[in-house]
Amino acid sequence: MKHTITLIPGDGIGPEIIAATVRILEATGVDIEWETRILGAQAQEQFGTTLPESTIESIKRNKVALKGPQMTPVGKGFTSVNVGLRKALDLYANVRPIKALPNVPCKYPGLDLVVMRENTEDLYAGLEHVVVPGVVESIKIITEKASTRIAQYSFEFARANGRKKVTAVHKANIMKLSDGLFLECFYKVAKDFPEIESDDKIIDNCCMQLVMRPEQFDVLVLENLYGDIVSDLCAGLIGGLGLAPGANIGEQGAVFEAVHGSAPDIAGQGLANPTAILMSGIMMLRHLGENDPADRAQKAMLDVFGEGRYLTKDLGGTAKTNEFARAIVEKMQATDAAAV
Ligand code: NAI
Repeated sequence: MKHTITLIPGDGIGPEIIAATVRILEATGVDIEWETRILGAQAQEQFGTTLPESTIESIKRNKVALKGPQMTPVGKGFTSVNVGLRKALDLYANVRPIKALPNVPCKYPGLDLVVMRENTEDLYAGLEHVVVPGVVESIKIITEKASTRIAQYSFEFARANGRKKVTAVHKANIMKLSDGLFLECFYKVAKDFPEIESDDKIIDNCCMQLVMRPEQFDVLVLENLYGDIVSDLCAGLIGGLGLAPGANIGEQGAVFEAVHGSAPDIAGQGLANPTAILMSGIMMLRHLGENDPADRAQKAMLDVFGEGRYLTKDLGGTAKTNEFARAIVEKMQATDAAAV
């Protein structure tokens, strides 16, 4: 079956890691037609908006997109395209698996947990204004609807993926109304999943526990801001941002992207590790029901890690982005040839 997928190369290292990933996904033999679209600064130049209708419409039509990182300037400048896209498509669940890879040096070999980040509200609603010069107000929005559906998604995910425990992470001791509502919704939903353990942790303690004893966690569900921060922390536990994939899921579509950003410090040098976006691409294949090709790509990637000859610089190796991708493609071809 042919799949039409929206492809957004993104900024910084985006085009390099997306090219590497497309090469590997195509080598699996899955029939994909890519519909390339743009966002952000590039789109601003071409369409006069950072979030062009042609991109949104393409994702709505295809229901699936693979997206490179988009740069968002700090301070003044345009608002985050990533946040805008997630809101425009109501991609409410940001699923971020944190799984240590065999043979990749990291602090917690064997670690396997999932960060589930609410993607549509919280302080990311972008409701900020100057009250008087020198005083700004930023509004945190937490709703029963969004808190309930991310809790529901997290427990359903746990049930479907054989996970044993879901932990809500919050600061309800201080933000009694907003985080209190998030927590209340979590425990209401938890009642419908008696076979799955449910508990909660205050965010600051949770961060310490993650660094000291992360194996106690299974699925973590967090509001938008906490989820953003904690998923980078968790990426650090398994070897860094180059290894953490993600999916933004909603009723209108699914956008697969790495946890990391556009890494301007290494862009254009062939130094980026494409593993995170490749693993997002493999998640995408599974989402499309292409499990065999997903398994083949994953096995080839793990074999390349296992041999340790083609590690990128962030993992202590010397391989360039495209050399790592080529090694994976060759590994798949060699396995296919041996099977004939
Ligand atoms: P970043 O994730 O781009 O980089 C942080 C550090 O990790 C840098 O030292 C970078 O070189 C390294 N790194 C990241 N990805 C890597 C990879 N694949 N291989 C090797 N090293 C990697 O975070 P930063 O610098 O805070 O953000 C840069 C830009 O990215 C900002 O404009 C930010 O808004 C944007 N961003 C976009 C995201 C998205 O599109 N989903 C997510 C996070 C940030």
